Amino acid sequence: MQKTILITGGAGYIGSHAVKLLLEHHYKIVVFDNLSNGYRQAISQLENIGKIKFIKGDLRHSAEIDHVFETEKIDAVMHFAAQCSVDESMKHPELYFDNNTIGTYNLLEAMRKSSADYLIFSSTCAIYGETAYLPVDEKHPQNPVNPYGESKLLSEKIIKWYGRLHGLKYVILRYFNVCGASSDGLIGDSKKPSLLLMQNAVRGAMNIEPFYLTCPPVDTPDGTPIRDYIDVEDLVEAHYHALMYLEKSGCSDVFNLGNGKGYSVKEIIKKVEDVFGITMPIPTGKPREGEYAEIYASPRKVREAFDWQAAKSLEESITSLKKWYTNHPNGYDE
Ligand SMILES: NC(=O)c1ccc[n+]([C@@H]2O[C@H](COP(=O)([O-])OP(=O)(O)OC[C@H]3O[C@@H](n4cnc5c(N)ncnc54)[C@H](O)[C@@H]3O)[C@@H](O)[C@H]2O)c1
Repeated sequence: MQKTILITGGAGYIGSHAVKLLLEHHYKIVVFDNLSNGYRQAISQLENIGKIKFIKGDLRHSAEIDHVFETEKIDAVMHFAAQCSVDESMKHPELYFDNNTIGTYNLLEAMRKSSADYLIFSSTCAIYGETAYLPVDEKHPQNPVNPYGESKLLSEKIIKWYGRLHGLKYVILRYFNVCGASSDGLIGDSKKPSLLLMQNAVRGAMNIEPFYLTCPPVDTPDGTPIRDYIDVEDLVEAHYHALMYLEKSGCSDVFNLGNGKGYSVKEIIKKVEDVFGITMPIPTGKPREGEYAEIYASPRKVREAFDWQAAKSLEESITSLKKWYTNHPNGYDE
């Protein structure tokens, strides 16, 4: 029988790519999103691939998420909905604990009262903070340096308790930096400007909007932060493998999702320039708060457990972004 997956935050950047992939794998999808940072059009564009039900709702209101489980038969949940700006979390931590941590708790409570046992959770490398060693494996100490990372670490802890005490089966995926768009140019990150470096650099290269260097100076060879970039199509494919892993093994676990290689901000800008064959002006903008010097993943654990690894190159991600922004320079309409 066709299974139904609830995707919270399915109208957002990464969630919409998960919706697309799971429809292609013939799942039925229920999207739950408050559209605070998501777009109805991201979903309506996918409606010809398969069966999607869109529910506008807010995880901070427990009755709204309870109602989903009372009225839909949900087999598994992919939980993407969150506020995701490190910089904003330094100014408004309350938004992050409310939206991300309480939101996750409300979802877990709704799941506990229903028969949905499987959860795949979008966590982040921001739970690690400054690195004690590289590459970062899943056992690395967890010392977030911003409320965004802390809100996700607290969510992870609550999920683990629901696993121990209520039988929840979960896979926690700690993403590194997500980039790219769907390779057919259909869906992508619609924020203007994006919160994400590669997206903004591509928009700068295409003269859609000016690009500003907003990273704080850090202690790396070129003075800009080093991060690990994973393409959004690779990332959502890992979610599909996580679902298979949960269904086959019934084991809960935590995995990093990265490429295993670090690139500085300046190196990413250079890659974008190379793909476009240009040199960009790089004016400096207001530095973001809550950033740290260097992080990249050890992808070994996920490779061994899922027999899968990220495959797309930075050039492929940049090319997919070029296609997405060519089709949608102003993003979605609604
Ligand atoms: N983009 C990255 O590089 C990155 C890195 C690490 C982790 N993550 C995590 O991945 C997930 C998805 O990120 P994204 O980049 O797609 O962000 P996004 O902002 O594009 O998507 C988040 C979606 O959640 C929705 N949402 C937010 N709060 C909600 C609430 N209270 N109730 C219902 N819906 C709500 C928004 O409207 C939006 O559609 C987040 O959990 C984020 O923390 C992202």
